[in-house]
Amino acid sequence: MAPSHERWSLSVSIARAWLAAVGRGSRGARGTVGLAVGRRLSAAAAANGWMPPREDKDAMKSRLAQAQKAAAAPPQLAGVKPRPVQSAAVIGSGTMGAGIAMCFAEAGIPVALHDTSQEALDRALASMRKTWESAAKKERISPQDALDFSARVSAETRLDNDSMRATDLVVEAVFENMAVKKGVFAELDKVCKESATLATNTSTLNVDEIFADVRNKHMAVGMHFFSPANVMPLLENIKGAHSSPETLATAMALGVKLRKVPVLAGNCFGFIGNRMFEVYAREAMFLLEEGALPHQIDAALAAWGMAMGPLAVGDLAGLDIGYSIRKEQGLTDPKTRPADTGRYGGTVPDKLVLLGRSGQKTKKGFYDYSAGRTPERDPSVEDLIIQTSKELGITRREISEQEIIERCVFGLINEGFKIVDDGIAAATSDIDVVYAAGCELPPAVAPVPIPPFRPADSDTLWRLQISGTARGSDSRCSLPTRLARSKCWKACENTRK
Ligand SMILES: NC(=O)c1ccc[n+]([C@@H]2O[C@H](COP(=O)([O-])OP(=O)(O)OC[C@H]3O[C@@H](n4cnc5c(N)ncnc54)[C@H](O)[C@@H]3O)[C@@H](O)[C@H]2O)c1
Repeated sequence: MAPSHERWSLSVSIARAWLAAVGRGSRGARGTVGLAVGRRLSAAAAANGWMPPREDKDAMKSRLAQAQKAAAAPPQLAGVKPRPVQSAAVIGSGTMGAGIAMCFAEAGIPVALHDTSQEALDRALASMRKTWESAAKKERISPQDALDFSARVSAETRLDNDSMRATDLVVEAVFENMAVKKGVFAELDKVCKESATLATNTSTLNVDEIFADVRNKHMAVGMHFFSPANVMPLLENIKGAHSSPETLATAMALGVKLRKVPVLAGNCFGFIGNRMFEVYAREAMFLLEEGALPHQIDAALAAWGMAMGPLAVGDLAGLDIGYSIRKEQGLTDPKTRPADTGRYGGTVPDKLVLLGRSGQKTKKGFYDYSAGRTPERDPSVEDLIIQTSKELGITRREISEQEIIERCVFGLINEGFKIVDDGIAAATSDIDVVYAAGCELPPAVAPVPIPPFRPADSDTLWRLQISGTARGSDSRCSLPTRLARSKCWKACENTRK
């Protein structure tokens, strides 16, 4: 299936963050077990005398609807009263801030947008107006709606203003930089009323550290919108160490009011969606170093069922974003790279960025885009990859499509189990929801029965996947998640005999 522009754009939010993270290596061999199956894996399954059940489109939709309902009402918040949110403020009027402000305005909540840059504010207001006018022209909203939405947004370059003092909730969406974010919350702490909920839209930073100096830590929470925030349904609400049940209930109820699909997540690098994608992307980088070329990886994963391959997605999202985050983490320089980083996956993308190849925006990334948006193979990148393998002392080898799929997809799925195991997600069904609403794995269009988590099928799927994985490399089966361990080990042992 050819990916439409719309489908591409939906992938960007998560892709940005996972590209940011490809440098964080694994700490040793990782388990690759999980519940996804695809067309390619069906062949392996057939060889084992088992075919994966194909889920009917309606059945999948209704399963997802149930999962969304459950995710929006976590049992630990049952009976907890959310605080009313009758006014909101958004700090930072860039890509995310503008989109988040639109969500409030469209939900009938007046929103005060603040940015230190008047230019950024003007740009944001103009872009919102344009979007709403265009929606009115297409009769998606009424002309009056367009006017009302615009009228609900105010803009200020001063943080200390009346709207900020009165607001019920603030969402911070400034640069992804700890010092900048902490500075903003130090100011908000002085300006906002005691009963204001404080939220950060960080995609990678530790929310507890962001709120470390805030007086009312129990009022603080992560609210991770996805880009474009006015379009993407997913909202990961991140539970900080001190977030009170009322604060979490407020974020969850607000998510529903903003017509989002809210999921409660724990605080860790990448939360749910981006953390899973990190593993997926990193495995793709390792495959490059070991012998695969970009087009081979992308073709294998697109054929498996992804809307587009991970390297083309990286080019679309912008390789520079990931580079700057890796740089800030001290990962790009081997001298500052933390000892427990494990195998570093950022070598190839770092080199590309330093050559000015940031992806589609510079017309060059893993691929060449001189002729347009279609990724074209670039021999100079392929040479760079081959040279990198040499520098890393890796003897390149043929890598099969099956291996590409297994390593990337099983890694992705296994991380999902670890996320549940670590308590970052409460249930596998929450991961389904994140995938469907945020990672663009829609059941209606996906040619494979994804999202991956289908607990009902677990026994048969374990057998399929473990046998497939163990055939490729025993080491990849050596660290199964705790959740999977009993089944995984049994299956591994049987396959190895
Ligand atoms: N872009 C995405 O795909 C995406 C997705 C999810 C989350 N996020 C997160 O959202 C946040 C914002 O990302 P973005 O892509 O919108 O960034 P951006 O660069 O487009 O916008 C940031 C805005 O913040 C303003 N700003 C910077 N410092 C400020 C300060 N001290 N006070 C007020 N305004 C300030 C800047 O002028 C700029 O307009 C980041 O934390 C990012 O990780 C981004």
